[in-house]
Parts: sequence; structure tokens; C-alpha cells
Amino acid sequence: MQEIKFYSGENIPLELHKVRIVQKLHLVPIERRLEALYEGGFNTFRLSTKDVFLDMLTDSGTNAMSDNQLAAMMQGDDAYAGSQSFYRLEKAVQDVLGKKYLLPVHQGRAAENIIALAYVKKGSLVPMNYHFTTAMAHITDKGGQIVELLYDEAYVINSDHPFKGNMNIEKLEEVIKRHGASNIPFIRMEASTNLIGGQPFSVQNLRDVRALADKYGIRIVLDCSLLGENAFLVLKREEEFKKSDMKTVLHTMTSLADLCYFSARKISSSRGGGMCTDRPEIIKELEALVPLYEGFTTYGGISIREIEAMAVGLYETLDETMICQSPNFIKYLVDSLDAKGVPMIKPAGVLGAHVDAMQVCAHIPQTEYPAGALAAALFLVSGIRGMERGSISNQRDDEGNETYADMELLRLAVPRRVFTLSQIKYVEDRLNWLYANRTLIGGLRFVYEPPVLRFFMGGLEPTSDWPQKLMAKFKADFGESL
Ligand code: F0G
Repeated sequence: MQEIKFYSGENIPLELHKVRIVQKLHLVPIERRLEALYEGGFNTFRLSTKDVFLDMLTDSGTNAMSDNQLAAMMQGDDAYAGSQSFYRLEKAVQDVLGKKYLLPVHQGRAAENIIALAYVKKGSLVPMNYHFTTAMAHITDKGGQIVELLYDEAYVINSDHPFKGNMNIEKLEEVIKRHGASNIPFIRMEASTNLIGGQPFSVQNLRDVRALADKYGIRIVLDCSLLGENAFLVLKREEEFKKSDMKTVLHTMTSLADLCYFSARKISSSRGGGMCTDRPEIIKELEALVPLYEGFTTYGGISIREIEAMAVGLYETLDETMICQSPNFIKYLVDSLDAKGVPMIKPAGVLGAHVDAMQVCAHIPQTEYPAGALAAALFLVSGIRGMERGSISNQRDDEGNETYADMELLRLAVPRRVFTLSQIKYVEDRLNWLYANRTLIGGLRFVYEPPVLRFFMGGLEPTSDWPQKLMAKFKADFGESL
């Protein structure tokens, strides 16, 4: 893709799409935002969108859909079995992901459930570059354990390493030798490693994982939910692929995995999910579980209209002018905040901009959830809803003890083609203000803690009256401004 330069020399991510359907937003007064926080247990998942101005919770199911996706939805072939919509999707998976067989499921975690049901048992160990919340929960739910094997540089916040999501190959071989290949049902590689700041792995790293998998006879399962952006960053950052194209990189990566799965809510800007492979025996192992948990194998619990949108969305993943939009906006936001001294995960990754709450809230101990507190504070002063990706998102260990996250991050998702540049500038402005006033942010404690995936529905409260003090400072500085 050719660069577009500005005469002014400014580095501006120019939108290569136009907005034809809009949704009105509401920026409610700060007093209402404070009430909403108390009503929602200081958990941004529990806010109602009527109180949210910029929804940066996630890119899952919130990427803008294209005119072609919406048009395709009208051609849905409603049939319980053998729908033509399924065959169009199967063809898209073959063309874009290069895999022959497809089993649709209702979303990404449904694939994680089925894969864990098929392969994980008590005593199993699943090595991975890094966990994703639902992937880990499904593995531990079946009696297995996970081990995370990143290189040390993955945990360096202010870095220029292009591939912080790389699997640590030396540690992987050590783990296989120590644990025994027969107890390792698969190695899981996650594209654009979500919880460490949307950081990619290189194709070369995946080749190295493949070599070990072949040496010890272990399957590789590739989580492709964020594969499009990982491939885009491979084009930008991996020498061998600088003159390549999206399709070649995607096929190269998926050809190194035995089984791929994805959340279509992410990769194809639609809903749904799927598992795909070239290996008939893997299909046999998984196929029977799909009708049991999801729906017949030609719809997998997804509405037929969404299947059509998925197929078109997958093809659009090949379009660099589409796939670059979110990473370029993220880079713009990260670089401008970094220039003002706000501690951000660097280099800019995909999915969202990630603020290092451990540094911003260095005065809040991890026992009081600095990333959750920062997420609540940002919502209060801006109406921007981000997501805590720190210890609240962790699960307790087998003895019920709290486990603290390696990183305390506030994730500000930038769904594809949703926000304008002035909205991104508003995010930058309010975060700069909050950073200057960071000592006013205080801690949180749980008042209601669900046993599984507690971050979704958990309820917290502030450990003092810090939200009121932060609001008073906001009003002193901004006067009557919203
Ligand atoms: N794998 C990755 C890497 C993900 O980011 C997600 C979802 C899933 C699997 C599960 O897919 O939601 O369709 O069941 N990530 C969303 C997020 C929820 O906000 O990061 P799902």
C-alpha cells in the first residue's frame, strides 16, 4: 500500500472510507457519569451505552460494517442444513485463510470450548505465547493448565521490539521435555497477543514453533481472531515480507498451524466464529461437538445473515486500506500520548491503545486494582469507556488466592472505521489531563466477585471519596464544559 504524505509534513492517518450511516452519541454531564459508575459497580462492562460517549471497550462486534457486508446479508439462504450461505463462507475461509474444512460456531470462545472438550483432560498442559481470558478459562474448566512462554522483552512497556508476541522457543522446548509431549494436547499461538497490548508474532517465530511441534509430534492451534492485524504488521515489520501482500502472509501463517479458530466478531467485523483445518481427522474429532453445543454444522449457532456478512468481511481483511485503519489510528494516539509523557505500551500494537496503569497509578497498590481504577477515572472525566486488562481480568488460583497480572493496562479499543480523528484527539486531550491529575485517582475493592470471569459482571467500590475529588478538580479546570 502506498503512503499518503501531507504537504505540512504532519503524520496523519487519512481515512480511506466515507461515513454514510451515522449513530448519534451523547456526552452526559460529569455528575451523571459519576452516578453511572456507582450504579455499574465501577466496572466499565456494566455501564449502559446511554451514558457512554466514546465506546472503546472492545473491537468485538463493534467494527464498522461495510456497504457490501450489509448488502450481502440480504441474500441469506435460510436453511437449517446445507445453506448456500455456509458454502459462500466456506469458500471465503478457503480463499482468505487457506483452510479446506470449516466448522462454524457462534463466537470465538465457543471454538475454545469445543477444542478444549476434544483435547484437554486433567493433567494436560497447554503452552501458549500468552493466555486470553476465555481460552484459559475453557482449558482450566476441563482440568488442564496453561503456561505462558513469551520472551522477557514482551513485558517491557517502552520498547521498540517489533514482535513482542513471539513464543519463547527455548522455553517451549524445555517445557515439552519436562512435561512430556504426550501431556501436551496442543500448543496455542495467539495472533496479535491481546492481553499484552495487541502485540504481533513474526512468521519466522511461528516457523520455529512449527519445527518444535513437528519434532515432538504436537498440534499447533492458532487463534486467528486478530490475524488480519498481525499479518498487516508482518508486512510492515518483517524484512522477508516487506514486498509481500496480505493473502500471502495470511496463508503462510495459517499453513503452519494444524487447526485455526477465530472470533468473527473481530477478524471479519461481523458476528460468529469458526474452526478450520486441512486435516480430515481433526474435523472428525470436533464435528460431533458442534451440533451438541452450537447448532447444525452448516450454521453453528450463527444467524444466516451474519454468515453472509462474515464471508464478505473475511475478503475485506485482504484489503490493506481497510485493515490498516485501526492500527494507524492506534499508532497516532499512542505516539501523541507518548510525546506528552503518558506511559503507553510501545510499540503501538493493534486492537487498541494501551495505557500503563502501573506507572500512571504508581501510588495505587496492585491489591487495589490500578487498571480498573484508571478505567473508572477516565470514564468519569470524559465519558470514554475503556477496559481493564490487569488483575481484575485475572482469575484466582486453585486455592482461591488472588493472582496479580504481569501488566496493569487500560485498553482503549479502536474498532475499525468507527471513530473520527477529532474523537481520537479528544481521547488524547482527556487522557493528558487525567495524567496531569493522576494523584487524585484512588483504589478499588470488590464488593461482588463472581467465581468465573469475574471482570465481566463483578462489582467494585472506591476505597475513598477520590471520585468526588476528581470530579471537583475537573469542574474547577473545565468549568461548564461537558
Ligand atoms: N481470542 C482472542 C485473541 C480474543 O481477543 C477474543 C475476544 C476471543 C478469542 C474470544 O472471542 O469474544 O468471540 O468469544 N476478545 C474480545 C476482546 C472479547 O474484547 O478482546 P469471542
